[in-house]
Amino acid sequence: MEKVAIVTGSSSGIGFETALALAREGYRTYATMRDVKKGDRILDIAKKENLKINVIELDVNNENTIKKAVECIISEKKRIDVLVNNAGYFLVGCLEDLTISDLKDQFETNFFGVVRTIQAVLPTMRSQKSGTIVNISSVAGRIGFPVTPGYISSKFALEGLSESMRYELFPFGIRTIIIEPGVIKTNLFSTLKKATKAESPYKDMTEKVMKGLLMMSEMGTPPQEVAKTIVKAVSSENPLPRHPVGNDAIMFLEAKKDKTDMEFENYIKKELFS
Ligand SMILES: NC(=O)c1ccc[n+]([C@@H]2O[C@H](COP(=O)([O-])OP(=O)(O)OC[C@H]3O[C@@H](n4cnc5c(N)ncnc54)[C@H](OP(=O)(O)O)[C@@H]3O)[C@@H](O)[C@H]2O)c1
Repeated sequence: MEKVAIVTGSSSGIGFETALALAREGYRTYATMRDVKKGDRILDIAKKENLKINVIELDVNNENTIKKAVECIISEKKRIDVLVNNAGYFLVGCLEDLTISDLKDQFETNFFGVVRTIQAVLPTMRSQKSGTIVNISSVAGRIGFPVTPGYISSKFALEGLSESMRYELFPFGIRTIIIEPGVIKTNLFSTLKKATKAESPYKDMTEKVMKGLLMMSEMGTPPQEVAKTIVKAVSSENPLPRHPVGNDAIMFLEAKKDKTDMEFENYIKKELFS
């Protein structure tokens, strides 16, 4: 039986590498993207390597494209084994610099986009009594940092959703996996949405933190590492709920586990501001 995977946001970075990695594992992979014109690169690789990859349109902010994509997959393949919720973007700006509209847009993609896509595949997975849902959170889904509270809140919300879903879905044979990358070298930082105004009282803090983050991103973990972790988790019989990726993610999450809240806050202040 041919196994079927869907990846959202497959035009670049983690989604692109994950769609390839799943196809290399033998999955019929639907590499979905909001602009299918960006699909040529993955289709070229698929052709060269003889991989089963289809590029189809799916904008996680547009319910209609999700419905059409899922209907197309069901009519072609009759099943969905893996859904990787990867599409997302990075909103930068301290809370006072963000408008409610900035925050709503961030949640629309990073949180409600995931909810919409999951709700679209669940009837199929429930009737199969199997399926794996992979939610790409972040180390920022477990730890608050200054300057990106909108992005961080969206990932904290995704962690709460994922943890709750695991209980609801396991009686139906559906598994939920959370991936927590640290800083990964992708387009996320070149396509970020910046909300900080020139006259902002938070301008210096924002610039300082972002300079550090952009430097870290240059030396970031390759997206192939995230893809490898996803394939390993999906292939395991009883996957753990959470999968950090990258030495930075592991270091921050271990520090959080080992320290009191105050100790951890002082550690982050030292890392970011000294
Ligand atoms: N890079 C990191 O350090 C890092 C760390 C932790 C977690 N993550 C998470 O990893 C995921 C992938 O990001 P990335 O690092 O691979 O960055 P990326 O290369 O910028 O990829 C983001 C992908 O999301 C797509 N996307 C954005 N809005 C969309 C929408 N409304 N509908 C469908 N697709 C949409 C983009 O499509 P377009 O090409 O059309 O813009 C792109 O394919 C995100 O959820 C991000 O939060 C990244």
